Amino acid sequence: MHLNGPPLIVMAMEAEAAPVRSRLGMEGPGSEIVNGLSSRIWTNDNIYLVTNGNNQRFEVDSIGTLPAAFTTFSAIKAVQPGIVISAGTCGGFIQRGGFIGEPILANRCVFHDRRIPLAGFDAYSFGDFPVAKMDLIAQNLGFRLGTVSTGDALDAQSCDLERMDSVEALAKDMEAAAVGWVCEKLDTPFTALKVTTDLVDGDKPTETEFEENLQYASERLSEAMFALIHELKKSNN
Ligand code: ADE
Repeated sequence: MHLNGPPLIVMAMEAEAAPVRSRLGMEGPGSEIVNGLSSRIWTNDNIYLVTNGNNQRFEVDSIGTLPAAFTTFSAIKAVQPGIVISAGTCGGFIQRGGFIGEPILANRCVFHDRRIPLAGFDAYSFGDFPVAKMDLIAQNLGFRLGTVSTGDALDAQSCDLERMDSVEALAKDMEAAAVGWVCEKLDTPFTALKVTTDLVDGDKPTETEFEENLQYASERLSEAMFALIHELKKSNN
């Protein structure tokens, strides 16, 4: 796969991003992309990583689709990447072979919580954004390729689950489709790399399982990202 610029990794939670930065040799506090706003950017060895940063009013990471879209837009304008990788943790699905710590690379990316049953708007709400073809890279890395489905809630209502089942989603997250939306607008190749912290169709409450596995999954994510960047560089030579 030929890249016309550096890889740009877009992440939401600091707990997920810190091990990835450490593995990629990115040090220090990073810098602002847009003056006065929370997004922060780091770089090393011609790779960029950006986070949505901290919401100062609520003192938590700015997770979800709105900050993801804003950060992605600002970062693409700043560094002109050859590919954008939405990275983070996700919910997985036992019924489709998922397990805690599994890396999943996107080959499709949709929204599951935008329901607009009006002519034309149904497809619009679903998104189905262009995703870079990574079949060979996934095969080399031993990662499963599948649909990443995005919504702005950690839980899943039955109508969300129906949508995720209809596309056999392997990963449920809160940012990827928003990042994909911006990439489509700015004509920039896009993918998502997610690692499972919790099982959407399992017995444990999502928030408990998420907190139990966040550190472990983030370490697995840092390894998976390191390997993906290596493959991208190899295939770019
Ligand atoms: N990130 C980690 N687990 C998630 C889940 N179950 N839903 C959405 N985002 C997540």
